[in-house]
Amino acid sequence: MKLTGPFSQIISLRDLPLKGALKDEQLFVIQNGGIVTENGKIIKTDNFESLLDEYPQVETEPIEGNNVLLPAFIDSHTHVCFGGSRAGDFAMRLNGKTYLEIAESGGGIWSTVKNTRKLTEEELFHSAKERVEKMIQNGNTTIEIKSGYGLSVEEKLKMLLAIQRLKAVSRAEIISTFLGAHMKPKDFEGSNAAYLELLVNEVFPVLRAEKLTNRIDIFTEKSAFSIQESRVYLQKAREQGFEITVHADQFTPGASVMAVELGAVSADHLEFSDENDIKALSEGDTVATVLPGASIGLGMQFAPARKLLDAGVCLAIASDWNPGSAPMGDLLTQAAVLATFQKLSIAEVLSALTFRAAKALGLTDRGTLENGKTADFISFPTADFREIIYQQGQLKPNAVWRKGERIV
Ligand code: NIG
Ligand code: FE
Repeated sequence: MKLTGPFSQIISLRDLPLKGALKDEQLFVIQNGGIVTENGKIIKTDNFESLLDEYPQVETEPIEGNNVLLPAFIDSHTHVCFGGSRAGDFAMRLNGKTYLEIAESGGGIWSTVKNTRKLTEEELFHSAKERVEKMIQNGNTTIEIKSGYGLSVEEKLKMLLAIQRLKAVSRAEIISTFLGAHMKPKDFEGSNAAYLELLVNEVFPVLRAEKLTNRIDIFTEKSAFSIQESRVYLQKAREQGFEITVHADQFTPGASVMAVELGAVSADHLEFSDENDIKALSEGDTVATVLPGASIGLGMQFAPARKLLDAGVCLAIASDWNPGSAPMGDLLTQAAVLATFQKLSIAEVLSALTFRAAKALGLTDRGTLENGKTADFISFPTADFREIIYQQGQLKPNAVWRKGERIV
């Protein structure tokens, strides 16, 4: 057992609802707090002096200066396993071409597929590891990574194996997702439906047998798969017991309604969600994961985060780190910028980066600082938690703990 502290403030994020709008006054702030952990779990957070009284024999991990303690961040949507760069696409967009026009003319995701195929599993592993390392430094201890730039049976498996290796060695917990349905590869001769059928028949069994992932994602969009095609595919995934998630409403509305109908764990993007999508998300159990990094990367509107929260939706924020639409990869910066444009409270932003993001990954064991939860937490060198969002990502964590052990 170990007592870490004292911290100027601890924001435990406990006792907050999973869905809907939040006011900062709802945050329970422990002043001069400490946290007791054992075997990777949290025993208790409370006033530091009270904890010393309660556990007089406990080993202490002293903290100096003014610091705020938060649950560690959870990035529930990334594509950090890829080869090459899309600086060329970026320059074209600055000259007026759109993401979809570039995709149609052979750039876009397909160019990253070609560059990813050139890398060995070893090289892919190392490039993803470097990005994961940055994310850990920035306070993320649970990181989702999608396959999605292989797009042939062998290449997909190569990506998943690289992610699997990362899972084994990383100091963060890595959650992998199969995104073979990112687009129909240009070297596949056959219809979209035939390609999706191939994934169901040839890849799903391997995912199961090799325990590579239990999560299936699809890009539902004009340049990728229609709502109807997505529905058939996701239904099969669900029937086989996979958890499903959808790239929804990035450029056109409607996919969130489908995601909720099919019981997807999350619907991600939502820049173009309309009233029907918002209504469906508010009535269902699907987490709305917004990706401000993609709006910033593409110079496009943000997802209607304020409206979603006011409608009672569970809102998570993720980085979408990928070479095409979201090359920045700094989740805290992106969330803070989204907050200014969408008028989100600090409580809403912090919840979207922690326990609400955990729900997007189907995880209930983390995201708040309370008894029984995984001891993943981060501290920032400030005495006022509002500084963390106010400084728009420039204030970085000065310590990161995973399962109670300090890793940064
Ligand atoms: O989430 N929207 C689809 N997939 C990625 C972009 C992938 C790419 O352009 O390489 C996204 O934004
Ligand atoms: Fe994405």
